[in-house]
Amino acid sequence: MNLVLRKYSPADVDDCVSVLADAFVSSPLHLSAFGNGRIDQNRRFFRLALRNMFFGQAFVALHDGALCGYIHFRAWPYCLPAPEEIPNAAATLLKSMGEAVPKFIQWFARWCHLDPQEPHVHLGPIGVAPGRQRQGIGTALMDLYIAELEQERSIGYLETDRVENVSFYKKFGFVVKHEEVVIGTTTWYMSRPLN
Ligand SMILES: CC(C)(COP(=O)(O)OP(=O)(O)OC[C@H]1O[C@@H](n2cnc3c(N)ncnc32)[C@H](O)[C@@H]1OP(=O)(O)O)[C@@H](O)C(=O)NCCC(=O)NCCS
Repeated sequence: MNLVLRKYSPADVDDCVSVLADAFVSSPLHLSAFGNGRIDQNRRFFRLALRNMFFGQAFVALHDGALCGYIHFRAWPYCLPAPEEIPNAAATLLKSMGEAVPKFIQWFARWCHLDPQEPHVHLGPIGVAPGRQRQGIGTALMDLYIAELEQERSIGYLETDRVENVSFYKKFGFVVKHEEVVIGTTTWYMSRPLN
């Protein structure tokens, strides 16, 4: 497989919107917040997020030149806004998303509230185009994140809403710290301690 990993560039935005919307449209939290099959809402959300939220380190994977994966991670304390900032930020940023906004606020306020108050590098999102999943691309992207954790001697942290992802992240040394239901969806909070 001809796989190339490189840093994200703003010129990748359209391809990343497509890959992330396709990868996440069936994720339980996205189904709950945006609705079933709402590829339009997912595309709108990821376009806003790529331009306004994902300001950490980001990399893309290209298979035979076609963009098929994206990963973003950012060091605490700038990884998520303070919980009290969420309603205003989400309402301003996401007002084009209409009926999804209240659930989105509930969901993100909870994630912000639970964000560890100690130094960590926060993962999210990571997504691989559905037709390219289970071929090692997610692992190759995760290896970049793990290398950053090792280099910075930092704890890793993430949230996930798919049980199959819990086993995926365990392969990289993550353990479940907390589990709860957010907007009707079981959500796992995982961290990767320092060795
Ligand atoms: C999670 C994700 C990034 C993994 O990327 P990937 O390229 O498929 O991952 P890899 O091929 O490197 O590794 C796949 C491993 O992940 C696990 N896994 C991923 N998806 C799985 C599924 N649907 N069912 C079972 N196991 C799955 C398995 O352990 C699998 O290993 P295996 O193929 O040897 O059994 C990708 O599946 C994805 O984009 N999912 C949708 C979006 C998402 O949930 N992102 C993460 C949000 S927290």
